[in-house]
Amino acid sequence: MDKCEEMGGMEYLIKKAKGLLEQDELVAIPTETVYGLAANAFSNEAVKKIFEAKKRPANNPLIVHLKSINSMDDVAESIPIEARWLALYFWPGPLTLILRKKQHISNIVSADLQTVGVRVPNHPLTLQLLKSLDFPLVAPSANRSNHISPTKPEHVIESLQDQAPYVLDGGECKGGIESTIVGFEGDEVVIYREGLISKTAIEEVIEKSVTVVKEQAQPAAPGSFKKHYSPKTRLVLTDDIENSLDRYEGLKLGVLLMKQSNKMYTKNQFTLSESGDLKEVARNLYSKLYDMDRLDLDVIIAEKAELSEEGYAINDRLTRAAS
Ligand code: TXA
Ligand code: MG
Repeated sequence: MDKCEEMGGMEYLIKKAKGLLEQDELVAIPTETVYGLAANAFSNEAVKKIFEAKKRPANNPLIVHLKSINSMDDVAESIPIEARWLALYFWPGPLTLILRKKQHISNIVSADLQTVGVRVPNHPLTLQLLKSLDFPLVAPSANRSNHISPTKPEHVIESLQDQAPYVLDGGECKGGIESTIVGFEGDEVVIYREGLISKTAIEEVIEKSVTVVKEQAQPAAPGSFKKHYSPKTRLVLTDDIENSLDRYEGLKLGVLLMKQSNKMYTKNQFTLSESGDLKEVARNLYSKLYDMDRLDLDVIIAEKAELSEEGYAINDRLTRAAS
């Protein structure tokens, strides 16, 4: 296929997605983080379908995906200057900002909060789709509630099964874990969910220190509930694989390593990155968990990531998968 035909094919797929969304149907969309389950953010009818398809509790708000920075002011007000700097610097990209919502944003989207999460995703198909629509898209990750986020079209089908919608196929997601979520509490800037945009990178842009908040009694971001992002198989997180192997002797084990090892612990052994590159680890993490979940294992023993900027977000997701 030459480039021209390929573009023509993509136009057709985007048109199809647009048609469905305009009729209040759901469409799974590719982003740079994970696949999202999208609906017209301005139609309650459409938004309700997301909660049904995912079996998502109504108290878990949705992120509104915008076509550009300028559309921020259509959905949010009293936007802090730090939020504008972060948007200018990181959008389109894997950063969600929690802002005071405009009153026309439905309470179904915001789960009755006075805030709304917004981001401009960085994927050419989805950006083109957003630009062709006259409404933004709400899109949680396109998985059944609490399951692993999808990074490939087939994961969407596997996780949502008969609830799976049309999938706009944008290939494998490049980032692999969900966006960093940043909120503003008085003068404080707070990270509710760690992601590939690190605390340090955020602090450098706003020239101010930022706090990472986890495990609240009443989480500001339900994504920070302890159990989340989980495979069906029990997962154990460790920095000592050998010791853990002894503990689970006799069971059908899978081992998930950060980087290539000379040791063969079990035949069900998977490596997230040959060289241990953490960007590659993030990109492959959910995909390997989907693969391992199909093997009918008793336990997955997963190695912790080294503690570095990307390592925090990876360990965060593994810890939730393990709880
Ligand atoms: O990378 C991503 O953010 C992906 C892609 C598809 O954009 N989306 C995603 O959505 O991860 P979801 O719904 O799976 O996770 C969004 C998180 C949830 O934990 C939700 O509670 C939190 O964002 N959230 C959304 N709106 C919020 C608000 N107004 N206040 C606090 N937390 C909010
Ligand atoms: Mg999710």
